Parts: sequence; C-alpha cells; structure tokens
Amino acid sequence: MNKPLLSVEQLTVGYPNQGDTVNILQNVTFSIAKGEIVGIVGESGCGKSLTSLSIMGLLGDPLKVQSGKIEFDGTELTRLGKKELNKIRGNEISMIFQEPMTSLNPVFRVGDQISEAMVNHMGLSKKEAKERSIHLLKLVGIPSPEQRVNEYPHQLSGGMRQRVMIAMALACDPLLLIADEPTTALDVTIQAQILDLLLDIQRKNKMSLIFITHDLGVLSKMADRVMVMYGGRVIESAPMKELYENPKHPYTQGLWKAIPGSAKGEKRLYNIPGTVPDPKDKIKGCRFATRCQFAESRCRESEPPLLKTGDNREIACFLYDN
Ligand SMILES: Nc1ncnc2c1ncn2[C@@H]1O[C@H](COP(=O)(O)OP(=O)(O)OP(=O)(O)O)[C@@H](O)[C@H]1O
Ligand code: SF4
Ligand SMILES: [Mg+2]
Repeated sequence: MNKPLLSVEQLTVGYPNQGDTVNILQNVTFSIAKGEIVGIVGESGCGKSLTSLSIMGLLGDPLKVQSGKIEFDGTELTRLGKKELNKIRGNEISMIFQEPMTSLNPVFRVGDQISEAMVNHMGLSKKEAKERSIHLLKLVGIPSPEQRVNEYPHQLSGGMRQRVMIAMALACDPLLLIADEPTTALDVTIQAQILDLLLDIQRKNKMSLIFITHDLGVLSKMADRVMVMYGGRVIESAPMKELYENPKHPYTQGLWKAIPGSAKGEKRLYNIPGTVPDPKDKIKGCRFATRCQFAESRCRESEPPLLKTGDNREIACFLYDN
C-alpha cells in the first residue's frame, strides 16, 4: 500500500490540572491517503475539532500534544517550530473552520484575506493574488466576483461568507483540506450546493479531505472511510459502505439508527441515553460502558484497545476482540 499522506499515531492531547494531566484526546490513531475522503463523526465534545486543530498546530493554551506523532507527507509536524509550521499551514494543509466569522477578519476586504496566503506561500504579487482571488470567488459560485472581492465580510450573506472561507482554504491548492462542519450554519439548499462544490474541487485536485459532520446522511454519500470518535478516542473506523451496512461498535450502532433511510429514519443524531464522559473523570474501563447495553464486568476493568478486525477496519470493543 502507498504511504498515507497524513498519519496520526497515538496522539494524546491534554492540559495540566492540579499536578496531573487531563487528556482530552487519547491515543487517536488514523491515516488518510492521497485523494481520500475520511469522515469524522461523534457527539458534541468527543474531540473532532481538537483533532483537526492538532493537525493544524493550532491548539490554544493550555492544550498541548502530550505524546504521539502527526506525520504529513514525510514531515513530523508535532516537532516543528512556528515558522516551519506556517509554511505548511494554509498552504499544503488548510482548514475550513466551524465558525466562519472567527476566521474572517471584519476589518479587511475579502479579496485581501484570500490573497494573503497566496502572497506569503506562493510568492504571487498583490495584483496576481487579487486576480486569483477573483478566479477563486468565481469557482466557489459567488456572483459578480470582481465587485465582491473589494467588499467586507459583513456585506456578504452567511452562505457567501462560507464560500469565501472555502475560497481561502483552496487558495494555495492544498494537498489536505480539513472541513469542520462546513455547512452547519447554512440552510439546506445552500448546504447541498456547498457540499457539491467541495466534492467537485476535491475530485479535480485529487485533494485529500477530512470531513467533520453531525449529519451521517451527508457522510454516507461522500466519505470513502469514516472514523467514529467517542470521549476523545477513535472507537471504530471502516470503509463507509461497510460501516453503513454493518456498524459494529455499540456506539456506532446507536449513531447509525439516525441515518435517513435507515430503520428509524430520523435526520439528526439518534439520542443515545446518558451523557458523554467528562475528560476530567479518570475512567478505568471502556468509556462507553455507562451507556452500553452490552457492558459486562471486564468492560469496567480495562479499556478495550483499538484492534484491526478486517482489512481496513478497526474497533475498540471487547465484543470483537476474540
Ligand atoms: N481550550 C480548551 N481547554 C480545555 N478543554 C477544552 C478546550 N477546548 C476544547 N476543550 C474540551 O475538549 C473536548 C473536545 O472538544 P472539541 O471542540 O474537539 O469537540 P467536538 O467533537 O468538535 O464537538 P462539537 O461537535 O460540539 O464541535 C470538549 O470536552 C471540550 O470542552
Ligand atoms: S467494550 Fe464493553 S462497554 Fe465498551 S462498547 Fe464494547 S461491550 Fe460496550
Ligand atoms: Mg467541533
């Protein structure tokens, strides 16, 4: 098999607390091949955004990578200094953030914001960067791009701002794009248009895409592979089709009941009784045990490791450890 473009190994992220460390991500392990689309799903607070921010080197204080590796195209990212990381971020790896307004600066024209990375990373002149910004705005479906390029974020609708974010993220033709709930704030028709656009560009550029969403219906249509996170860990990962047809981890089974067209057919995440664990609680066994209908005594004694159960499939659950 070809070497993956990105491989995250045993990534643990946490912060110091009263002489101890609270780990929010624990031994997160996954990889993505060139041109592959990997979806990340899981309830709110399970660590999806922190996984992306770790890859981008954007963990805010007091969070730190405690252990593990993030290897991108042959470079180990967790050891890079700010300057070296800046060369990769926004250039070879870019991200569409969950909150568009946190990454658009209200006091700069959208054209200048899209141009910045191209001037810094691609060595374009301001004039060339502006021309490419207009081209990118057109590409993401913004009408009258020659005029819009000179406008400020507040002059655009929510849907257009999201498109500007995509244009920014695509400015330097990244090898890897991380899209963190890129359409949650938008209405359904615009959501569909933006997803089509992302997929179109992904195919044309053979870009790798990490797609984070709560909407399993969307994911089932686009992802090659899915990893399911729970309480800061990867608990199951498999090709989309296999996971869709045969979810194995009890938590994944719960989530899957919600996919439109499945037995229960609800649109959003099925509400699994109980709540997600607090990262501050030291849990001895399986993090899902308090909510799992199959929990047995060994589930409360030690944590099930993420084990390979097939060619491209991994599960962290004692029901499958044989
Ligand atoms: N700076 C921080 N300091 C301490 N804890 C944090 C910090 N940022 C996030 N967390 C905690 O880390 C956990 C994971 O957060 P994260 O934002 O990755 O969740 P998520 O899966 O993206 O959720 P959502 O679906 O709501 O976006 C949460 O419990 C959150 O409260
Ligand atoms: S390890 Fe045990 S508690 Fe955890 S998901 Fe599997 S059966 Fe349920
Ligand atoms: Mg998030």
